[in-house]
Amino acid sequence: MANVNISGYGDDLTVNGTRIGDLSPQGHEDIEKKMGGRNYSPLENVVVSHVQDSSTLICRKPDPNDVNAYIEEELMDGLCCYSAVNQGQLNQTIVDAIVTHLTKEKLPTVPRSIRHKYMSAFLMAATAVTEMDRIVPKVAGVEAPELMFKLSRRWGYKVKGIPENEAIVVAAKGNFHGRSITAVSMSDDSVAREGFGPFLSGIELVPFNDIEALETLFKAKGERIASYLAEPIQGEAGVIVPDNDYWTKVRALCDDHNILLAMDEVQTGFARTGANFAHQLFGVKPDLMGCGKAAGGGVLPVSFVAGRDDVIDILTPGSEGSTFGGYPLASVASVYAIKVMIDDNLAECARTRGAQLMNHFDDIKAEFPDKIKENRGRGLLTAFEMHDSPHLDGHTVSVELLNRGVYAKETHHSTVRVAPALTIQAWQIDNIAEAIRDVVKSL
Ligand SMILES: Cc1ncc(COP(=O)(O)O)c(C=O)c1O
Repeated sequence: MANVNISGYGDDLTVNGTRIGDLSPQGHEDIEKKMGGRNYSPLENVVVSHVQDSSTLICRKPDPNDVNAYIEEELMDGLCCYSAVNQGQLNQTIVDAIVTHLTKEKLPTVPRSIRHKYMSAFLMAATAVTEMDRIVPKVAGVEAPELMFKLSRRWGYKVKGIPENEAIVVAAKGNFHGRSITAVSMSDDSVAREGFGPFLSGIELVPFNDIEALETLFKAKGERIASYLAEPIQGEAGVIVPDNDYWTKVRALCDDHNILLAMDEVQTGFARTGANFAHQLFGVKPDLMGCGKAAGGGVLPVSFVAGRDDVIDILTPGSEGSTFGGYPLASVASVYAIKVMIDDNLAECARTRGAQLMNHFDDIKAEFPDKIKENRGRGLLTAFEMHDSPHLDGHTVSVELLNRGVYAKETHHSTVRVAPALTIQAWQIDNIAEAIRDVVKSL
């Protein structure tokens, strides 16, 4: 019989005699390195314990006087789980909905082979907020582009008339759509691809924000192209914002060539960029849109694909599915994630606090033009890029910010993304900016 003894909650949670409240940051690191996959390199010497408020984490750092002990410190959250917590940590409205659902309504989990009443609420709320016809619920963010890829191909064969097995999906260079085989097949990031081939065929990459390149490709291979699948603003690439007219030109090109426009809004959606969905900033409407992250209100993994009636309609029973996609608890979490976004006007919050943060960034750039090359962003999806120089290192900035009580993470060697919860207070933005200024000054 397996030897597993589990008891207690919180710091008293004890597994096989080890109480987690007794572990130092080094102890946690040792366990992760020994028992976990080594597919992340988290910031060292810090372990998050719990949240204090919507934008403040309480973390544990080594006790300077005793390596086996820890001290607790506040950490301002400038990343909010890569935009999964737009509504703020432990948003009361969302927590109340979930607690009520579990303790009073009592329907955590049933499969899709039997209807549950909360799915209707989710579909009505999600179609209303996305202004799309149909929704297919999924779980992880990566499943949204994955499904858009499948939908593109099947639509290409069944509706557009592309010969079987010849469909092409166009993606943008520098994209990030997750880490599944489909996503890394679309990626040009060698670290994400190394050792995972063979990759999917039928993918073409174009430079992002280059309308001529897209037009050339569409002219050459348009008859076999099913969709252009891209992020409206590239997040992981370092917050790359395209020209204001890029997406209207893309939309027109797609229409001319009968090609679907599929937007991955897993990171940019749910008010992050100052509109409920980033494509609205550019005045276009995609045929398909993938959402994730904050679609689950920062408490559950929820993703979905929203889209045009005739495109989603090509799915048939058995061609797509997910045990936990749209299960009752996730449906309720997502309905309330949507409610909070609308009722609290999170898009407006993102615009106001984002403008405040960008003003600070501009001041820092003006003060240190030899260090800061460019500031970029929309709403509260922001980044500053430093000049290319060994001492202007994004990872060093992250570590130094941590020492000043701020959590933000580099996306590339010289780019640091700052994307806090949309509920963040003005004084907290000032504090984050002050810490960044201090770190930049010290470099
Ligand atoms: C645009 C985009 N698509 C997909 C994903 C993958 O989401 P997940 O990590 O939840 O699978 C991400 C994650 O950062 C993303 O930014």
